Amino acid sequence: MKTAQCIVNKHFKISAIDERIYGSFIEHMGRAVYTGIYQPEHATADEQGFRHDVIDTIQQLNVPIIRYPGGNFVSGYDWKDGIGPKQERPTRLDYAWFSLETNQFGINEFADWARKAGTEGMIAVNLGSGTPQEAGYLAEYCNIEQGTYWSDKRREHGYQQPHNFKVWCLGNEMDGPWQTCALTAEQYADKARETAKILKWVDPNIELVACGSSSKEMATFPEWDRTVLEACYEHVDYISLHRYYEYEGDKASFLAAYHDLDDFITTIKATADYAKAKHRSDKTMMLSLDEWNVWYIKHMDTKRWQWAPSIAEDVYSLLDALVVGGLLTTIVNNADRVKMACLAQLVNALAPIHTDPQGGVLRHATYYPFQQVSNYGRGEVYKNRVVCDCIETDKYGQVAELATLTTFDSQTNELAFFVLNIHLEEDIDLQLRLEEFGELMLLEQQVLTGEDLFAVNSFENPNKVVPQHIDVDKPVGTSFSFILPKASWTMLRFKRA
Ligand code: AHR
Repeated sequence: MKTAQCIVNKHFKISAIDERIYGSFIEHMGRAVYTGIYQPEHATADEQGFRHDVIDTIQQLNVPIIRYPGGNFVSGYDWKDGIGPKQERPTRLDYAWFSLETNQFGINEFADWARKAGTEGMIAVNLGSGTPQEAGYLAEYCNIEQGTYWSDKRREHGYQQPHNFKVWCLGNEMDGPWQTCALTAEQYADKARETAKILKWVDPNIELVACGSSSKEMATFPEWDRTVLEACYEHVDYISLHRYYEYEGDKASFLAAYHDLDDFITTIKATADYAKAKHRSDKTMMLSLDEWNVWYIKHMDTKRWQWAPSIAEDVYSLLDALVVGGLLTTIVNNADRVKMACLAQLVNALAPIHTDPQGGVLRHATYYPFQQVSNYGRGEVYKNRVVCDCIETDKYGQVAELATLTTFDSQTNELAFFVLNIHLEEDIDLQLRLEEFGELMLLEQQVLTGEDLFAVNSFENPNKVVPQHIDVDKPVGTSFSFILPKASWTMLRFKRA
């Protein structure tokens, strides 16, 4: 059997983990909102129409921040359509997804829903068809206590206390020709900077995210990011990154996505640091990976001008779940610069959670690695020295066959280790050396694997792809050996003895 070693030393801490790295995303897209989180006639809906079966499923994911309301949707969205008496709200054409938007769910409903779901909002403003002034009015509506036109309107609408949203995104993917009123880098840089000034005048306590390139494949990447950062450096706190992967027939390359994401993050860090040097700035720009996931974008089917159509309802397989696990290792290993990240998205549209409007909730396979890392990958992240072989991939060349992540939480005294074995034919005997952490007791071992990499969960068979709990007799030690099955994702939890 193949062997490998992973040595983790408590003196080699990468960073404390900002919990917002386990964020997610709800866009007005397909059935994410309507018949997803909001469905007044559903059996589990509360008096506000929020589905509690969905809230419960989200709560188990432990998601501290949720981006809203888009996405592409926000670039043509007038937030004022979604406030005030519901019967007076207009139905509009949503240019992003060619859907009908009834505006029955708006910023106030989102604030209430987020509170009930135990999460916070990351609010995106419209920098497509919208203006800096309208973005400022939204911040005034949400974050000013009272005594101004928009804050008093909010009070009139029944919200005496401000929502106090802390994180604001300056538009969405404004380099994309698919965006309502896309901009050149120079146009966006000016618009984002002027909007940033207004938003921070309205509320100096907020944090701002500037749009980076919408993907690494854009012709303007990474020049867009350089232009935007040079123009906005002292006005914003984060640059955004978006990254999606899909299986295109080559399993090895798909499983190696974790390696590509690391490369992408490295490039954006370098670009941001160039802008820092140019500005002679003391501030280090942090990264917000505010869209990431597996997404079968080529299978998108858009029906025109329907309300709550099924869009991007990907049914994720075991293979997809393994890829999501690998991506999580990369994200958290970069926690020194990636302070926020959003699994895109959360419900129905390219999401781990699927709802039946007439029934219950289904957890797709990708739900599980996210749940494990979000719940247990807390505290601090440590550097791993991995001695293993590489695999030759068509897309990325030589890639290490193991992707690993080690976190230690001093609150719970628990160490968590996550590992993806991307080898398609061979199990690997891993020796995990944790000597510097002192004596540890193995609490739990969970493995996600299976013969059929394309197996999926369904309402008929909801537990076809779930992690298996391996019986452990709670060994104590400083070095442990585990068999990592071919094409598998493993979580190990230890407690300091
Ligand atoms: O998450 C789906 C879409 O992907 C978002 O609306 C957009 O920002 C990205 O292209």
